[in-house]
Amino acid sequence: MKIFVDTAKLDEIKEACSWGIVDGVTTNPSLIKRAVDDAKEQGKEIDMETYIWEICKTAGKGRPVSLEVISLTMKEMIEEAELLYSKFNPATENVVIKIPINTRIDESERIDYDGLKTIKKLSQKGIPINVTLIMTPEQALLAAKAGASYASPFAGRIDDYIRKKLGLEFSKGDYFNFELIEKIGKKMLDKHLKSSRGEPAASLHLDTETKNSIGFGKDNGIESGVYLVKSIMKIYRNYGIKTEVIAASIRNARQIRQMAEAGAHIATIPFPVIRGMLQHPKTVEGIKSFSADVVPEYRELFQS
Ligand code: E4P
Repeated sequence: MKIFVDTAKLDEIKEACSWGIVDGVTTNPSLIKRAVDDAKEQGKEIDMETYIWEICKTAGKGRPVSLEVISLTMKEMIEEAELLYSKFNPATENVVIKIPINTRIDESERIDYDGLKTIKKLSQKGIPINVTLIMTPEQALLAAKAGASYASPFAGRIDDYIRKKLGLEFSKGDYFNFELIEKIGKKMLDKHLKSSRGEPAASLHLDTETKNSIGFGKDNGIESGVYLVKSIMKIYRNYGIKTEVIAASIRNARQIRQMAEAGAHIATIPFPVIRGMLQHPKTVEGIKSFSADVVPEYRELFQS
């Protein structure tokens, strides 16, 4: 599985690339805002053109950098995509344009298909597209059919959505264990069934908590962000689809493990979460004891 760093902070991109395990970079308007806010806090101004150029240069040839458009209609998104691509791609040949699968933000608007049409038109022109804000396997299928090079399902945001529906309290980095929720739900259901023995099934009253726990909290059959990625991978494999899946909106290391198990081509990971992938107390303990056990004879070997 390839690893992209999910940040627009130049210092994070530089450091992560220096570790030798980063295969690309993804940005979005919120990540750019964080980089700009950080710079302001340090009393610095960002010249956006130079800054983005630095990001592309730091990643270098062979490491794709996703840059996102900011408009919501096809005409404007195409103009912005072409501007980004013509400005930044020639030097580093690594620019990928991020287009949302659907840009409709208001029920009254009729621009549901502008994302899709934009993806199709830009892909036909040979511009590599990363389709963003994918929340369902159906959207991922359409993104691929429109010619996307990459599809980015937002796993963490789906976990957040389901957890909120279930009324669960959580912090952003918490791993969402749907299997556990399901087990608890099944136990609650069993209890209900036992206590209402003899009643016809149709008259059984299930309280909201039980209903949620037995799977009604699922998002149209999707039980978690990991499940979303698994489903997309299955569909893409069924049809030999070449679009690469970028597991996005990643919150913790265990999610990354499951994305790799699911066969996701890429995971785009925030800088602190990549660091977290290295952590284990027994590794720390082990390195301490190995260092303490180095005998002088062994040390001399390296001093000659
Ligand atoms: C990357 O392509 C996405 O924009 C990013 O992973 C979103 O992450 P978030 O849900 O933590 O904002």
